[in-house]
Amino acid sequence: MGVAIETLKTEHRAIKRMLEVLDAVCERLRTGERIDPAHLNQIIKFFQEFADRCHHGKEEEIFFPALEMAGIPKEGGPIGVMLHEHDQMRVVMKGLAEAAGRYQAGEMNAGADIIRYASDYAALLRRHIEKEHHVLFQMAEQHLSPEEERELAERFEVLEAEMMGTGTHEKLHALLDRMQGIYLGDRSESGAESVAESGAESGRKKKRDKNQGGE
Ligand SMILES: [Fe+2]
Ligand SMILES: [Fe+2]
Repeated sequence: MGVAIETLKTEHRAIKRMLEVLDAVCERLRTGERIDPAHLNQIIKFFQEFADRCHHGKEEEIFFPALEMAGIPKEGGPIGVMLHEHDQMRVVMKGLAEAAGRYQAGEMNAGADIIRYASDYAALLRRHIEKEHHVLFQMAEQHLSPEEERELAERFEVLEAEMMGTGTHEKLHALLDRMQGIYLGDRSESGAESVAESGAESGRKKKRDKNQGGE
């Protein structure tokens, strides 16, 4: 596996950790527990900024176009499906953010709406990640050389720096760590590591650590 795909897979691991947090939040809402609205806003911010802007941004601006150039058609194939799913998830996330706003304002039914939107979002995103792993990334590996992947990983770093600005990545990393601690009772290194390695620095680190292997 080349370094560009490895970077995207590492980001998927971080995103899946925050989906577990979201599951735990919904579980508490189901039992009638009051969730701190600030936490809801922070979790939503993570999905909007890290999962969508940063990760889907890299896929849409850099990775998918490179696959098209390498001969994988956009329409009628997995790239078109992935783009459509990114849009679907944006719509559901907008609904979730609005429901969180109503929850914060004290609206009675907002908790049930949060559970509904969050469950839809988590199901969509988990299926999406599985498809990328088992279909798109497999195809990509056939079409991209290690050289091309290295170049893409460098462009990921540039895009992330432009899009997120300095320090944002670390803030999102700390946010995931904090939410895991509160909702999963998990402050372990493995959770923290998943985001620590998922951003701009990971490409360089992965190059050094390449021989450690495994996903
Ligand atoms: Fe995607
Ligand atoms: Fe992805």
